[in-house]
Amino acid sequence: MKDHKGLIVNNIKLNDHYYLLSIKIDDDPKELGLAGQFYELKVKSSQRFRVPISIYDIHDNIVDFMIKDIGKATHELSLYKKNDSISVLGPLGKPFTEAINNQKCLLITGGVGYAPLNYFKNTFPHATITWFHGGANKDEVFPADRIYTNDGSEGIKGFVTLDLEQYLKENMVDRILTCGPRIMMKNIVQIALPYVKDIEVSLEEYMACGIGVCFGCAVKIKNGEDFLYKTVCKDGPIFQGSEVIWDE
Ligand SMILES: Cc1cc2nc3c(=O)[nH]c(=O)nc-3n(C[C@H](O)[C@H](O)[C@H](O)COP(=O)(O)OP(=O)(O)OC[C@H]3O[C@@H](n4cnc5c(N)ncnc54)[C@H](O)[C@@H]3O)c2cc1C
Ligand code: FES
Repeated sequence: MKDHKGLIVNNIKLNDHYYLLSIKIDDDPKELGLAGQFYELKVKSSQRFRVPISIYDIHDNIVDFMIKDIGKATHELSLYKKNDSISVLGPLGKPFTEAINNQKCLLITGGVGYAPLNYFKNTFPHATITWFHGGANKDEVFPADRIYTNDGSEGIKGFVTLDLEQYLKENMVDRILTCGPRIMMKNIVQIALPYVKDIEVSLEEYMACGIGVCFGCAVKIKNGEDFLYKTVCKDGPIFQGSEVIWDE
């Protein structure tokens, strides 16, 4: 993990809420991060100063971030222009487990939870990947094998979990990887665990320091009959879904 001075090389509006921010970082491309890891991007407007954002893709020295404009900090990031400089801390956190050849991976994402799984898919082209993606409406969806919207404005009307159990009854899946709203991931784990033991979830809790010091992002993780606290920023954000205590 390093504090880099990044250079904005592109900031593309994808729709009214989403944009793709590309930042050039002068470091060995191999050191720029793995699928599931994230960076803390510095902003002036937020009291928190830094915003955690997942790696969406990496090519050469450029790290792409897919960002949803939902508040002060993410709006400020949307205003960055080509050639602006920005301080970025990372890569942070633990990545998804690597996919082995032909492993059957089912990706399930909601809204901006799409971002880290895009990099996973690009990193492991030899895995067999099926992708379900859901969102509130057509502005929240991106290319996937199955698309779900709550209002039916694109793809299948309903939640991304709508026919998950049926799919798992009919198809062999080695692993599930998921990122999105907490309630979505909780439901996925509940539905899928009888069929698939290996379910990696990417938690997106509020963060302060981002480096495991303040404990502001602590979550409860099962420990035998008991539980312990782990930090999303340092121990995560990737955890086994079966180990997370979802009802807190
Ligand atoms: C590991 C990690 C990876 C992330 N990756 C991405 C990414 O790739 N792209 C992206 O757009 N965002 C990502 N996020 C979320 C992003 O960090 C927040 O959206 C951002 O911090 C919001 O800041 P803000 O000042 O714009 O909004 P705020 O003013 O802080 O919040 C606006 C509204 O959103 C709600 N909110 C904000 N953050 C969260 C959260 N983490 N969980 C639930 N509700 C929240 C607030 O309650 C409020 O209602 C990630 C978060 C984590 C922890
Ligand atoms: S944000 Fe400080 S410990 Fe995770």
